[in-house]
Amino acid sequence: MDAITLLRDDHTMLRELTQQFADTAEKAVETRKKLLKRIEMELKAHTTIEEELFYPALLDASDDIKDARMVAEGIEEHRAADKKVIPDLHKADESSIAYSGEAKVLKDYIFHHLKEEEEEMFPRVRELIGRKELQELGEKMLARKKELLGELA
Ligand SMILES: [Fe+2]
Ligand SMILES: [Fe+2]
Repeated sequence: MDAITLLRDDHTMLRELTQQFADTAEKAVETRKKLLKRIEMELKAHTTIEEELFYPALLDASDDIKDARMVAEGIEEHRAADKKVIPDLHKADESSIAYSGEAKVLKDYIFHHLKEEEEEMFPRVRELIGRKELQELGEKMLARKKELLGELA
């Protein structure tokens, strides 16, 4: 499977999950808990394959500092979601209005990150890395993703 197709499919799923999550009402406490757990797992697997395999492939293929900055920004956005936005949700009461606000923040944050990758990074990777190499990279990423989801489940 092509690496970019794999990541785009993940993005579609992450958009659906975070949108569903942001749309939940204060009384849907169990749904909120379940969705957050699923989002965390999928996000962890997705950002890990990007950081372990996809971003390094871009860095290897490029000697342009703009690409290095784009990768640094991506990593920082992953870290902010993992260390700030998601921990804030864990601290909040699921039945509160504050939680509703934070769920919307998570959704907006994720949408922003996915859009940047799709509009700026993926076209750049297509320019720099050939189809065959992207296929091979995608196979590796898919195998690693399955392994991670097995560990996280
Ligand atoms: Fe990402
Ligand atoms: Fe991504």
